Amino acid sequence: MRNFLFLLINGKPQEIRGRQVFSNLSDYLRTERSWVGTKVVCAEGDCGACTVLIGRSGPDGITYRPINSCIQQMHQLDGCHVITVEGLQGPHGLHAIQRSMIRCHGAQCGFCTPGFVTALAGLLEETTAPDPTRIREALTGNLCRCTGYEPIIKAAMEVDPADHHPLHELYPPDAILGALAPYAATPVAIEADGRHVAGPLTLDDAVAFKTAHPEAVVIQGGTDVGVWCNKRGFIPPAVLTLSKIAALHHLEIRDGVAVVGAAVTLHALEAFFEHRVPAFHAILRRFGSPQIRYSGTLAGNLINASPIADSLPFLHVMGARLMLAGPNGTRAVAIGSFYRGYKTMDMAADEILASVHIPLPAPGEVLRLYKVSKRRDMDIATFTAAIRLTQSQGRIENADIACGGVGPVVVRLTNTEQSLRGQAFTEATFARAGQIARSEIEPISDVRGSRGFRLQLAENILSKFYQEQTAGEVRT
Ligand code: FES
Ligand code: FES
Repeated sequence: MRNFLFLLINGKPQEIRGRQVFSNLSDYLRTERSWVGTKVVCAEGDCGACTVLIGRSGPDGITYRPINSCIQQMHQLDGCHVITVEGLQGPHGLHAIQRSMIRCHGAQCGFCTPGFVTALAGLLEETTAPDPTRIREALTGNLCRCTGYEPIIKAAMEVDPADHHPLHELYPPDAILGALAPYAATPVAIEADGRHVAGPLTLDDAVAFKTAHPEAVVIQGGTDVGVWCNKRGFIPPAVLTLSKIAALHHLEIRDGVAVVGAAVTLHALEAFFEHRVPAFHAILRRFGSPQIRYSGTLAGNLINASPIADSLPFLHVMGARLMLAGPNGTRAVAIGSFYRGYKTMDMAADEILASVHIPLPAPGEVLRLYKVSKRRDMDIATFTAAIRLTQSQGRIENADIACGGVGPVVVRLTNTEQSLRGQAFTEATFARAGQIARSEIEPISDVRGSRGFRLQLAENILSKFYQEQTAGEVRT
């Protein structure tokens, strides 16, 4: 058992002890190490100024992904390699993207620039010739108030491949993995200022810690907890991080059911569902920025228990089950009965969400998912919906419908579902169903939309489904 954290930053070993384990990464870099290239603007994962690359070991060696360092706590980083903007420069001088940014005038005030450079350095690890669409997607989590973005996108497109030296040239993987390996294989237990941090290697040890410390905050991706710490002064009394438990990174199909471990990132899910359930893949792409998706998890999205969580309508109509590990073993809870009220769950203080089991759509089923938000990217939903439907010879055989943002929990529209069963697949059928949908929800007005707007959305979404379906857009 180790009583300190170990990680590498720009190839240099760091032992983190005492209260520093509760610091966020950007504060550690800037305050403790005086590496001030990493900037902080929003401190809540929205602007990307604080972007750094995190290297984690996996089956393919070590891969580097951008994350927001302002909401990443040090206790999440044991056994990782962090590369900051300072660490992109090597024996060849500036990184190729830095040189291209200079050539293309990609910076004005420059405050956002380290974040853009780091995010683009991460993209160039995946492809040295990104097209404009890929570049824009990679930069959805980086904001610039000065440039209008075009010079930055041009800089990304005009990187000279001959000038690009991938990170493994700067940081040879064998040396990095060799330095991290002894620490990856040891659990962590730290006490500082009367607070505990645990980074166990097994689910049993995680449950034992949660049983001993029921007040512990379980960190699965930490993208919300980091915001609470920065913006609400939240001080977790104890922290249990699951990232070192190999079994919770498991992702597979078992008898037509996707089994998603609690530590699987949203980014990993994107690739997994891209061809299996394209509609869910499309929702995952709007979950937040790439930096958030490389860190956040489906399990974290569920436990955060927001009624407008992007994943929930899909999980409801698919009949997902949650596997809760506790001191007496593991029990399965249907998603439909998991939420008892606003942010209230059927989960004991000594239980941990270990995995989510999601039945996949059967052949012939139609699945459509909807997210309405003020902005397309990087926004919290005003309204969400999922419609799963089968029909035969022009008649609806079955319908499952769930809506979010219309009450304290995601709602199954059981009367609407019933009204559709056995009916002809016509515009009039869905118009009638839309009227019933209105009567099944009790939305409130808030900053994201009025009650009337949400009622109208619930009605319209049925007609939209019909129109899309008859237009031949098949999304299953
Ligand atoms: Fe804005 Fe971190 S400072 S995302
Ligand atoms: Fe000023 Fe981007 S160059 S914020």
